[in-house]
Amino acid sequence: MSSKKVLIIGGNGFIGMNLSRTLTGKGYEVYSFDIAEPVLKYPGVTYLSGNFFDSELLEDTLRNMDVAVHAISTINPSNSNEKYMQGYEMDFLQSVRLCEMAVRHGVKLLFLSSGGTVYGNQEVQPITELAPTHPINHYAALKLCIENVMRTFHAQRGGDMIIARISNPYGPGQDYHRGVGFIDAALKKALTGDVMEIWGDGEIVRDYVAIEDVCEMLSTLIEYQGPEDVFNISSGIGVSQNDILKLLKELGIDLTVTYKESRNVDLKKTVLDNTKIRELYKKPLKPFREGLREYYEFLSGCR
Ligand SMILES: NC(=O)c1ccc[n+]([C@@H]2O[C@H](COP(=O)([O-])OP(=O)(O)OC[C@H]3O[C@@H](n4cnc5c(N)ncnc54)[C@H](O)[C@@H]3O)[C@@H](O)[C@H]2O)c1
Repeated sequence: MSSKKVLIIGGNGFIGMNLSRTLTGKGYEVYSFDIAEPVLKYPGVTYLSGNFFDSELLEDTLRNMDVAVHAISTINPSNSNEKYMQGYEMDFLQSVRLCEMAVRHGVKLLFLSSGGTVYGNQEVQPITELAPTHPINHYAALKLCIENVMRTFHAQRGGDMIIARISNPYGPGQDYHRGVGFIDAALKKALTGDVMEIWGDGEIVRDYVAIEDVCEMLSTLIEYQGPEDVFNISSGIGVSQNDILKLLKELGIDLTVTYKESRNVDLKKTVLDNTKIRELYKKPLKPFREGLREYYEFLSGCR
């Protein structure tokens, strides 16, 4: 159990709300800072309403914390090639300010980066943290800009900064309308009877990881004291869209799909090597089939 105070910026979003719950269960004092009202309120979490871009409020909120989790992005992989200036002008600059504030107040900063996009196309899979990065969109480029600023603050002023490159999380609280979430879209469309569009031949491979496991691995990083600054957060296992359709069939879940022309924005394969985080977090991860079934049952109960 830990008594640390953790501020989750973007705490009412998909990852933030799940992380709030995980950390509260471990005894952390959790503060969820968000512009939107929480859909669900977890007992023990303190909900703070505020705008990440209000620097004065952000610094006031941050100054008494032990750890801050940066879980906000105003752009996503789907819209970043149109909204990139917003990403650089707003998210990037405010993230630099956040780094500065964290260093000034001795707050550890954990940044949620994107393992699914920063590496780009890679021959060698699974991809380790040492692989050269080839961002394929501005969302990924923005993540890398922020990562580099964190490293610079760490090198120059000793800030305690950790980068979590998350692969493809799925589970309760996700909303594919926000630009990512194949599993979320597939299961929700199965429930409503809508047709699922698949871009290409369905052989795109991703590394899906249950949100509970993501939050456990992130909470390990909150306690981590060591020389490493970047960790892949993933299952380490590649699953294609066609594999998912097969699994859904086996689970008795009906989904109608239509195959469309492939898009050049989609990477063929991204599987992240998770050896580094698994040296710190050793408990078994949820098998994909079980996670898929559980999430479907959760969504069925929500209807
Ligand atoms: N979901 C994924 O697949 C995934 C994968 C890798 C990395 N990430 C990163 O993790 C972070 C969290 O992702 P998520 O899926 O939980 O996103 P999300 O959109 O579900 O949640 C983000 C939260 O930030 C809040 N927010 C947005 N602008 C704000 C502002 N100006 N002030 C205060 N709050 C604001 C939103 O209200 C929302 O609750 C993001 O940085 C994202 O890029 C997500």
